[in-house]
This record gives sequence, C-alpha cells and structure tokens, in this order.
Amino acid sequence: IPAAFGIACLGYLLGSIPFGLLLTRMAGLGDVRKIGSGNIGATNVLRTGNKKLAAATLLLDAFKGTAAVWIAHYLFGQDAGLIAGFFAFLGHLFPVWLGFKGGKGVATYIGILLGIAPAMVLVFAFIWLAIAYLSRYSSLSALVATLVIPVVLWILGQEKMTLVMAAMTIITWWKHKANIERLILGTETKIGQKG
Ligand code: G3P
Repeated sequence: IPAAFGIACLGYLLGSIPFGLLLTRMAGLGDVRKIGSGNIGATNVLRTGNKKLAAATLLLDAFKGTAAVWIAHYLFGQDAGLIAGFFAFLGHLFPVWLGFKGGKGVATYIGILLGIAPAMVLVFAFIWLAIAYLSRYSSLSALVATLVIPVVLWILGQEKMTLVMAAMTIITWWKHKANIERLILGTETKIGQKG
C-alpha cells in the first residue's frame, strides 16, 4: 500500500472512534444522539449531566487527533502528520460506523492542532474560554476560535498548516449550520443547559 493511503486510513480509523457515544453507552446513559442537540460531542455529553464523562469525551476525541498526527509524523515526517490529522478529522465527522453521521469536530480540531502546532492550542483555548465566559455558548466559542486559528497560522507564514486548518474550519462551520441558525434566532442552548 502506498504510504499516503496507509496514513489516510490510519487517521480516518482513529478519528472515527465515537468516544462520546461509547462512553455514554458504557455509563448506562443511553444513546447521546437522542438527547439535546443529538450530537456525539462533549458539549452534548455534558447535557446528560455527567461532567466527568463530558471531560473524558473532550480529551479522548481530542487525543485521537493528536495520536494520528504524532504516529504519522514519527513514521513519515511532518507532511504525513498533516495528512493523518486531516483524515482523523474526517473520520470524526463522517464515521463509517455511524452511517457517516459523526460529530462537529471541535475537540478533534484541538487535538490535531496540538499535534501539528502545540502553542496554537493556547490561542484556541484563550479565545474559546473568553467567548464561552462572555456568552455561555459552546458553539459560538468554537466558531470564533476555529476562525482565528488559520488566520494566525497564515500570519506566522505556516502555509501548509494554514491550508489544512482552514479546510477543517470550513467543514466544522458547515457542520454547525443548525447551531448558527439557532445563534441568530437566539434559541441556541447555553453550556450545561439541557435544552
Ligand atoms: O463542540 C460542539 C459544539 O460546538 C456544539 O455542540 O451539541 O451544542 O450542537 P452542540
């Protein structure tokens, strides 16, 4: 198998592990897709009321992205890391196991960023926390943070990273269509709110 194909498959498979769904099921909380926004991510797992499970979902959904980047980078170099990260992102959003209906990508985005440009996670975290503190909207915080990251990478002259992260930003924004509509209408649920 050509290396690029192997890297893409590895990234996709790691990314496609739906930790939010698995953890809530293992905890006996039922199907997370049937509550709140119906999403499999940490924000929606928090709507079960179990904060530890939400934190674990965030960390595991992030770390699968980091792992994909690290493994590919270690084996085949930096560009391979970027490819594996991007495919991990696609795996999380479009997992074959769930009929290609996966998450919205925010945790995995952060994990991939940690793998390719660790210091940028501080930028992401600062923006996310600031907007979340002010608005209490998880979606809005992620939308703003994912918009800023490619701009900063571009300013820093990191062209390949800008390209990959910008592509991920566009896809994650598209996956947030319903959230964007609710934000405009003022009906988006706030962090921790069951809605
Ligand atoms: O990270 C996902 C978040 O931006 C939105 O999640 O469940 O409110 O649609 P949710």
